Amino acid sequence: MNRSCYCAEPGEGDVGKRFVLQGWVDTRRDHGGVIFIDLRDRSGIMQVVFNPELEARAHSKAGELRNEYVVEVRGELRRRSDDTINPDLPTGAVELMADGLELFNSARPSPFAIDDERITENVRLTHRFLDIRRPLMQRNLRLRHQAFRITRECLDEFGFIEIETPMLTRSTPEGARDYLVPSRTAPGSFFALPQSPQLFKQLLMVGGVDRYYQIARCFRDEDLRADRQPEFTQIDLEASFVESDDIIAVVETLLSRIFSQLGNSAIEGPFKRIPYDEALSRYGSDRPDTRFDMELSDLSDLFPESEFKVFRSVLEKGGVVKALVVRGGADMSRKDIDDLGDYAVELGAKGMAWIKVADGKWQSPVVKFFSEGEREALAERLALSDGDLVLFGADEAAGVHEVLGAIRCRIAAGRGLIDSDRLDFLWVTDFPLLEKDGDRYRALHHPFTAPRPGDVELLESDPLAVRADAYDVVLNGVELGGGSIRIHDGGIQRRVFALLGIDEVAAKEQFGFLLDALAYGAPPHGGIALGLDRLVAILTGSESIRDVIAFPKTQRAACLLTSAPSEADNEQLRELGLRRRK
Ligand code: AMO
Ligand code: AMP
Repeated sequence: MNRSCYCAEPGEGDVGKRFVLQGWVDTRRDHGGVIFIDLRDRSGIMQVVFNPELEARAHSKAGELRNEYVVEVRGELRRRSDDTINPDLPTGAVELMADGLELFNSARPSPFAIDDERITENVRLTHRFLDIRRPLMQRNLRLRHQAFRITRECLDEFGFIEIETPMLTRSTPEGARDYLVPSRTAPGSFFALPQSPQLFKQLLMVGGVDRYYQIARCFRDEDLRADRQPEFTQIDLEASFVESDDIIAVVETLLSRIFSQLGNSAIEGPFKRIPYDEALSRYGSDRPDTRFDMELSDLSDLFPESEFKVFRSVLEKGGVVKALVVRGGADMSRKDIDDLGDYAVELGAKGMAWIKVADGKWQSPVVKFFSEGEREALAERLALSDGDLVLFGADEAAGVHEVLGAIRCRIAAGRGLIDSDRLDFLWVTDFPLLEKDGDRYRALHHPFTAPRPGDVELLESDPLAVRADAYDVVLNGVELGGGSIRIHDGGIQRRVFALLGIDEVAAKEQFGFLLDALAYGAPPHGGIALGLDRLVAILTGSESIRDVIAFPKTQRAACLLTSAPSEADNEQLRELGLRRRK
């Protein structure tokens, strides 16, 4: 290799030395006589000067260079004159005086200027190979690599070993739809891509591996958002003979190392822990953002006999009335408040009553229905004073939490209440094992999560009261990871399957291998999976996890670069025993 080093490495201490640099032409400026190019590689930029008096041939060849041409330049490094120093560039005090130029490849005009941040994401994703040349993408991918490296080092120290699990497998239920892969050798049969390595890592524990980890690719066909991709990456781990505190301790150490090495932030462990019920009732979310206050207040006891029908009827039906107080929020216009109300309705609310406190008076479409006593109790409970804005939610508890929880975050973001330098890690614990989904039960985590030992006897008598031995780690309102202690007793696993509506026959057919394994000496075990993409997105300050994935999919689960998914031809379909429906 001819290259001496990367473009951005030479500095003032290297003045007078000769260098061979290779890379892409970022920009070219022809100053009538002298030609300047900014040469770019993954490290950054070096200014290269072609002076006809120094080397006429190199200079004339440089006249033909265009943006994104791939070249090698040779020459001596010199200090720039004081008036041409560029303080914004790490190499801004030096430049390479070129006396040699080799053109490796030309390039078509780019559909966009590489560093133009205003280009729409679809254009960037269609030409992702160009987009990846952007310094921001280079930084994000490198930081992602560093997160991998630290994870491997740290988990290795803890005695975890890295083991791969199959991609072509059976359904691994995590609550999403499966991606199916048809089998050629068994026409009419399908593999499912794993939603997580969950069942395999449990089998590894039965296999005596004791401590497993994997940087695992997972596949879920679900509605996509900024922090969800159809294929994404987990730091997945599992250990035997452990309790939840052991897994929590490993994760706290791992996250502290990642954030101290890559985020320059010292994290204080142990992280706070908040029970699930408390997280919902105070913040309206099971992944609360605690970087700001604005907690929800319960007012259900104030309005049971209210003249205000909306509140009274909700309470009669066993619902709740809660409020959010925005201190200083009375500066919001009627339109701002109406927009919030529309947002509440989008989220499923029937309305959003409000009160503005200004000049000692209450402005509100609803207080006329409140009694004197209700008004006094409200003012006292919420410690209302001039400038406050109160927003109400009345409905069944889950709905109120969802709506006020989302509005709380939206207001905080809109009013700049969030200190973006803060890292609020916390654990949410004491999840219920099951939730009601229509007239059925559904596992809040997945069907292999263990009930708390003391709650096992409630499984049949009061299923919704059973708490899970599960824990989620949350950072700044983002669910970073979730895990649990698992069921290692076949009998309990069968009882949980039965509650989930999976009868003996179905359990045997879908999970027979797991039930078998549990019957052959399964140790107590538990683990967790962290969303690596979300972690790196927070580390890099990215709005979307797409910005930290080399080749992500769009919101519609398509790859614009390769045009996947695409149609299969008839011959392929025939081999797979498939026929397209008209
Ligand atoms: P869970 O389903 O909670 O648990 O997933 C763990 C973490 O993975 C991340 N994540 C995602 N990231 C990007 N796109 C997605 N579509 C997506 N879905 C999930 C989240 C989430 O917290 N097997 C269990 C873990 C265990 O019990 O050990 C599991 O997969 O950050
Ligand atoms: P209505 O009687 O439906 O016109 O509602 C009167 C006021 O109460 C309006 O300001 C609505 O936005 C508000 N409101 C209606 N339903 C709810 C609810 N479930 N929670 C909070 N406010 C509501």
